Amino acid sequence: MCGIVGHVANTPSQRPREVVLDGLARLEYRGYDSAGIALASGGGLEAIRAVGKLANLREAIDGAGPDDALAGIGHTRWATHGRPTVTNAHPHRSEDGAFALVHNGIIENADALRARLIDDGASFASETDTEVVVHLIQRAYDDPATPAWDGDIAGADEATAPAARRLVAAMRAVADILEGTFTLLVVTEHAPGLVVAARRSSPLVVGLGENENFLGSDVLAFVEHTSRAVEIGQDHVVAVTADGVTVIDPSGAVVPLKEYEVDFASDRATKGDWPTFMDKEINEQPRGVADTLADRLDSHGHLTLDEIRIPEYILRGVDKIVMLGCGTASYAGQVARYAIEHWCRIPVEVELSSEFRYRDPVVTEKTLVIAISQSGETMDTIQAIRHAREQGARVVAVVNTPGSTISRESDAVLLTHAGPEIAVASTKAFTAQVTACYILGLYLAQVRGNKYAEEIADYMDKLAEAPAKIQWILDRAETVRQFARTMVDASSVIYLGRHVGFPVALEGALKLKEICYIHAEGFAAGELKHGPIALVDDGQPVIVIVPTPRRAELHNKVLANIQEVRARGARTILVAEEGDSSVDAFADIVFRIPPTPTLYAPLLAVVPLQIFACELATAKGLDVDQPRNLAKSVTVE
Ligand code: M6R
Repeated sequence: MCGIVGHVANTPSQRPREVVLDGLARLEYRGYDSAGIALASGGGLEAIRAVGKLANLREAIDGAGPDDALAGIGHTRWATHGRPTVTNAHPHRSEDGAFALVHNGIIENADALRARLIDDGASFASETDTEVVVHLIQRAYDDPATPAWDGDIAGADEATAPAARRLVAAMRAVADILEGTFTLLVVTEHAPGLVVAARRSSPLVVGLGENENFLGSDVLAFVEHTSRAVEIGQDHVVAVTADGVTVIDPSGAVVPLKEYEVDFASDRATKGDWPTFMDKEINEQPRGVADTLADRLDSHGHLTLDEIRIPEYILRGVDKIVMLGCGTASYAGQVARYAIEHWCRIPVEVELSSEFRYRDPVVTEKTLVIAISQSGETMDTIQAIRHAREQGARVVAVVNTPGSTISRESDAVLLTHAGPEIAVASTKAFTAQVTACYILGLYLAQVRGNKYAEEIADYMDKLAEAPAKIQWILDRAETVRQFARTMVDASSVIYLGRHVGFPVALEGALKLKEICYIHAEGFAAGELKHGPIALVDDGQPVIVIVPTPRRAELHNKVLANIQEVRARGARTILVAEEGDSSVDAFADIVFRIPPTPTLYAPLLAVVPLQIFACELATAKGLDVDQPRNLAKSVTVE
């Protein structure tokens, strides 16, 4: 939530204004209700802000701002405190105008701090918690009593160093009294070639360039300029000049840079010729699944997961698995539960991250937590894994973003290789998460002796067929698209599934709510008769995930459920296997998927539902990639 960008240049010709605006464009998926930029030059600070999408900010700027800027910070907002207005948009300025600050997160003690500042004579222009912070920074900077920080600021010349040290000291003093979560970036007219930042539980990465450096909520902010990134730890403050990066830990000591290489090409984060990112990402699923599966088996058919650095004796002793995630990631966990319990015979609970720690869950050192997250920055999941680790559980993160907070705070990381996902509605991350969880489940079965090597190799071989099968569905997407275009007036859609089809139904319904603004609900097919069937009336669209006919006990029950809703006037839209003609008599339309083992069917069945939602949102003229009220990465609780 909220995208933050910073750039420090050696000369104005490196164009901080454009670099920051381009970075914001790449982070706009994190929030898009208003945006702003501040530029620091020898002549002072200038800030420009606008309500709405980034295009409005670009229009407002239209070449304005100093041409000799050396540093810039920018922000694209998802409102928490105060409505999306120009005055609430970031950057916020200090009372003397000498500092400009952007913020991602929530300052929980902002009201108390604001009251104290008002008592002290301060006045506020906005309703935000952020403005409190920039006022505090100015006061701490000006206050001779602020504890000095007298280390070396890398790359700072003699003119910049004293102001940089004072700003670091002010940032450390203010961060100390803030409660809540934050990434903060500040620029000042006292040292125009400098950005000072701090983070607590909100994302921040630094990008290392040649004679220039970058900051961002994630690497997408600067990946077109550099692939060298530096992780910033919890409660660390960082001073960035064009020629150096100084990271300072909570004790005031300078810490060595933890550098890593960003391993995707910057063009993977652009739309190319696709009409929307969501279209592109749906079509990238064969690659995402294949890349997630790549190089997992050794020559003896043994699964090797180098990333899982939890000793095998601990994995053998696990007596319960808890899968944590939010939204789509949690549905990926629900899918995986069926496979992991079946293969490993360990009880698996799937829990929404946001609920987990509030119910006093039974977690011990024999619990294995699998935390699933595309962004690796979802605050609900971060807090849940912290709680689990405090109880002694080991945490394996299944994340798509290397270097993210969840990956850093877990005992092991299994990366999904879906590539950057930009559309707010998650698609390729889901199929990659499900794939990674299958691999993890098979690995546990191998380590614990539940499956022989040849059985595991067989499961992996069948899984390796998934990319081609997804492509088969994508090649036949026009049927789904045509049907979606007939549904623009639908006001409610019911999704039904049984067994692994149930979480797919939930995921399909989430896609429709999220980008089409149509009320949609997913139900376990067998549960319908216990209440929800009362919703079914003449013409009610009901989408049903039909299990393979090879699992007759499941298949027949779902056919019966389809007949129950048809008897009450429902229009039935079925997702069923190619060759399963038994469904034809009960369908208004069938979206076909290739035959596949039951446990792997979600990887296929979800695809028509994604295409359906994407096409329907397009036909309704909605913003597919940036639906209202949402943001890609939910970094507040
Ligand atoms: O980054 P994460 O995977 O942790 O995000 C979790 C959810 O916020 C996310 O899946 C959300 O539900 C999607 N927008 C759904 O399409």
